[in-house]
Amino acid sequence: MHMKICVLPGDGIGKEIMIQAEKVMARIADLFGHDLEIDHALIGGAAIDEKGVPLPDETIELCSGKDAILLGAVGGPKWDELDKAIRPEKGLLGIRKAFDLFANLRPALLFPELKDASLLRPDIVDKGIDLLVVRELTSGIYFGEPRGEEIRNGRKFAFNTMIYSEDEIERVARVAFEAARKRRSKVCSVDKANVLDVSQLWREIVIETAREYPDVELSHLYVDNAAMQLVRDPSQFDVILTSNLFGDILSDEAAVITGSLGMLPSASMGLKNPALYEPIHGSAPDIAGQDLANPLATILSVAMMFKHSFALDKEAMAIEGAVKDVLEKGFRTGDIMSSGMKQVGCDEMGNLVVQAL
Ligand code: IPM
Ligand code: MG
Repeated sequence: MHMKICVLPGDGIGKEIMIQAEKVMARIADLFGHDLEIDHALIGGAAIDEKGVPLPDETIELCSGKDAILLGAVGGPKWDELDKAIRPEKGLLGIRKAFDLFANLRPALLFPELKDASLLRPDIVDKGIDLLVVRELTSGIYFGEPRGEEIRNGRKFAFNTMIYSEDEIERVARVAFEAARKRRSKVCSVDKANVLDVSQLWREIVIETAREYPDVELSHLYVDNAAMQLVRDPSQFDVILTSNLFGDILSDEAAVITGSLGMLPSASMGLKNPALYEPIHGSAPDIAGQDLANPLATILSVAMMFKHSFALDKEAMAIEGAVKDVLEKGFRTGDIMSSGMKQVGCDEMGNLVVQAL
């Protein structure tokens, strides 16, 4: 298969983890006889430094003709003081919006080899964690208008608008129901319908959409309860469907309870190409450039890309198997290191996965 991919390394550890991901892609292409066409472009702080904006037009143009986008991470203290309109994060929000990537899939999986790294009690972890957060990504309070700051009676006020249309709710709900069908057929929709009008519409439309998926079990939780249930008994969840802001918060929580933030991939997709794949973790400026980063989340994002953008399940499984293999042999980067294991750097971890393929 011919695959057109745009690689956006971004900032911090983004560059070094992306080198490892590209090695893995190249090896898969070799092994399975695919042909990769890869371009590189700037996003985030790296783009601000060179072009003055976090998401240059060239980047959008280069990504436009592609099947998939692979992104490292954006941001760092260097750009924290900038005007909020040109901060690195704007690059990320901009690319989501530019390609209408409304459904963000964030799996949180406990790797049995890394059980000891979980922050939860062993009796909770023993029940397993294997859930998928489906987060709405291009609407809600992140993009709602009006937004801004103004002076009223001589005092400063700032405001955002949490808003959803029924179409926006329905299309992301469908993604969750479809995903559940390929898993354990359960969707838990998370909202704040006891307080917010926008959540009442959310719940109404999710219930309506669910009628077309009678084989999927639907439940609802208020977001505060959901946050609590995630640490009390994460094994109860299969697919969690939620809005942009709640999904931002709950997906970090879901990731950290697995104990392996450095291991988790994500996919952001719309109705057409390109979809975007990125690790869940950030740019980790404190360890950037020191060969300490864990490249596995990005490598597993490549696996998600093969599965979702190219329907190449065998290739995806080969990558997931290779990662498992390397962990089973006891190799760990610093973030997932425990006693008795062999600590390796980012580059060596990448090489080990390539060898395991
Ligand atoms: C995420 C991040 C982003 C978000 C930031 C960096 C804009 O936290 O992808 O979860 O809030 O969506
Ligand atoms: Mg976040």
